[in-house]
Amino acid sequence: MSVPAEPYVTADGRQIGDVLMEMRNITLRFGGVEAIKDISFDIREGEIRAIIGPNGAGKSSMLNVISGFYHPQEGEVWYKGAPRPSMKPYEVARMGVGRTFQNIALFEGMTVLDNVMTGRLTHMKASLWEQAIWWGKAEREEVFNREQVEKIIDFLEIQAIRKTPVGRLPYGLKKRVELARALAAEPSLLLLDEPMAGMNVEEKEDMSRFILDVNDEFGTTIALIEHDMGVVMDLSDRVVVMDYGKKIGDGTPDEVRSNQDVIDAYLGVPHE
Ligand SMILES: Nc1ncnc2c1ncn2[C@@H]1O[C@H](COP(=O)(O)OP(=O)(O)OP(=O)(O)O)[C@@H](O)[C@H]1O
Ligand SMILES: [Mg+2]
Repeated sequence: MSVPAEPYVTADGRQIGDVLMEMRNITLRFGGVEAIKDISFDIREGEIRAIIGPNGAGKSSMLNVISGFYHPQEGEVWYKGAPRPSMKPYEVARMGVGRTFQNIALFEGMTVLDNVMTGRLTHMKASLWEQAIWWGKAEREEVFNREQVEKIIDFLEIQAIRKTPVGRLPYGLKKRVELARALAAEPSLLLLDEPMAGMNVEEKEDMSRFILDVNDEFGTTIALIEHDMGVVMDLSDRVVVMDYGKKIGDGTPDEVRSNQDVIDAYLGVPHE
């Protein structure tokens, strides 16, 4: 069964709305390499959208286009019903797009709390001068930012390690701290590049639960890349499948599971 074109409610009661972000005929080249070849797909409000495919298929490149790190040579990115001009990553972040990275990108020497605080940077409005003398607006802003960060820390159950330097944490917890930092910016669209790579079964279960909770409690739309098909099929409403820069499948988990091109290129072969 495909999903309706109109807003709808999923079997587990989640609200899926209109199109939030649309990729239109995106082509991205690095010199002679075409990492993305004429790909179109959309992401709807409230949805959990997965991007899957073999290594080198162009999945991370696609997230990098969405987040403004890469600029496609052809095609358009539409956001909230209008074409988005070419933007820098911090501008895209200010528009409500958050992300985590395939390789963890945290400040290893800083505590968990301070790392998560850096996620609030896009919300800070007080001038450097106001911050320097800790005055009025800067003080109110700081207090509010700290409250927001503490909420996220509680939500992701990392209170016990809030004062621990990130460099001392095991891998699974670092991934959770990275999620916390992305959430601290209160994104409306959250991009997760392999949030469960390298995790054991228990850690994957925890991360799956947190992703579902984020979607449910904050109404955050989520686009994630993941190689674990059990996780993808369980979590996502719709799946885009890429192979050698091309889109070879797009639909509900059931639809892509029975798509012969997808089986031939990806599902039928062992992968990590
Ligand atoms: N900054 C870059 N410069 C040059 N080539 C790049 C760059 N980023 C990606 N590529 C190339 O684009 C192609 C797609 O890479 P990408 O990282 O998007 O794949 P992926 O699907 O995320 O793979 P993986 O599952 O291994 O993470 C590859 O051939 C890669 O070498
Ligand atoms: Mg990748």
